[in-house]
Amino acid sequence: MRTQVAIIGAGPAGLMLSHLLAREGVESVVVECRSRAYVEARIRAGLLEASTVDLLDEVGLGRRLHAEGFAHRGIYLHWPGERHHIDFVDLVGKMVYIYGQTELTRDFGRARDEDGQLLFYEATGTRLEGIESDSPSVVFTDPAGRETRIEADLIAGCDGSFGPSRESIPSSACQTWEKHYPYSWLGVLANVAPSTDELIYSWSPEGFALHSMRSESVSRLYLQVGPQAKVEEWSDDQIWEVLARRLGDGEGGWHLEAGPITEKSVLPMRSFVMAPMRHHRLFLAGDAAHIVPPTGAKGLNLAIADVALLSEALVAFTKGDTLLADEYSERALRRVWRCTHFSWWMTTMLHTSGDPFEAELQRSQLGWVTSSVAGAAGLAENYAGLPIGY
Ligand code: FAD
Ligand code: DHB
Repeated sequence: MRTQVAIIGAGPAGLMLSHLLAREGVESVVVECRSRAYVEARIRAGLLEASTVDLLDEVGLGRRLHAEGFAHRGIYLHWPGERHHIDFVDLVGKMVYIYGQTELTRDFGRARDEDGQLLFYEATGTRLEGIESDSPSVVFTDPAGRETRIEADLIAGCDGSFGPSRESIPSSACQTWEKHYPYSWLGVLANVAPSTDELIYSWSPEGFALHSMRSESVSRLYLQVGPQAKVEEWSDDQIWEVLARRLGDGEGGWHLEAGPITEKSVLPMRSFVMAPMRHHRLFLAGDAAHIVPPTGAKGLNLAIADVALLSEALVAFTKGDTLLADEYSERALRRVWRCTHFSWWMTTMLHTSGDPFEAELQRSQLGWVTSSVAGAAGLAENYAGLPIGY
């Protein structure tokens, strides 16, 4: 089989890329190792930046998001005895949106169905061949056991942090940076109305907590836990007790409403960047090229920003103009490093290590960010999102 762009991975990066390419008349085939049901049910991100939403609107994918998602003016920063609202609209004129990655993935899936997109789910043994030649291919075994080869002009590696694309690039041809943080997040989904109108990021001496949401009746909450923590070690009662303490239940009359927990998972935290994000005919986008810790909600938004740049580059490439393809990695990495810094900064400001000196620095930083317009505007500009072409 032959196509113009072979895309590996049907996460947000891969699906959005195939959507953007189709709009410009460029044909692609998507290869995904999981089932469609699994991909569409995977609970992950929930916060979209203004520029992500603008792009989704522009390409006809924003309708359900505006009908069912929540537009937020800002976030709360909380620490014992203090709760401050950072108003992004006042500070930088932008809103952010709560809309589950599950919902977005379903919207992408529906749009790809309407376009008749060729997608292979449950592919095994996916490998890349000839990426240094002018006719690379992606080879995999389909669920019926047939080996399938897709010959392409270009390959887009959108296969997340454990996919084969990044692994196909020789280590002599790239540089990587990595940082592991000494904590993880325990994330829960609960059938209870959110106890807040906008997200609460909370510092407490015993660790970080985040109150997010998915709908009028579903809350999403996260707790800083030890790096080796396991889901089984945390009972539902214990999770609610710790959340209540860290989020300031009872302070100023605020109350955290508990409810049945329907999903629990542990998320290790690391930063990772690989450069360049291209090797000959292979282009990387999203988590395949970089990982950020989740504080600040940049992962999904970065994946979308990457493919916005990549689609332009690939469209031009198919018409014989290679300039944007040559510039892709450098342009994408500018934003990647900005978001890598912001995610690291939010993470280190809000997570506790037990070091009393660091705790005082964190409280000082929180005090400054919430009392200085310049401090708050810096957070707002990074959180609500820089323009796609930043
Ligand atoms: P992925 O979503 O990982 O997609 C990659 C796809 O490639 C997957 O479907 C995978 O199955 C497939 N694949 C892997 N290997 C192969 C193979 N061998 N062959 C074929 N296919 C393969 N980001 C935000 O912006 N905001 C948030 O609020 C936020 N919260 C998060 C909360 C949690 C708990 C987690 C885990 C992540 C969160 N993120 C958030 C990060 C965000 O979910 C990711 O950055 C985003 O999914 C990246 O999209 P992607 O398409 O690059 O990669
Ligand atoms: C969510 C996740 C994040 O990492 C974050 O910073 C904000 C919101 C969420 O899943 O809703």
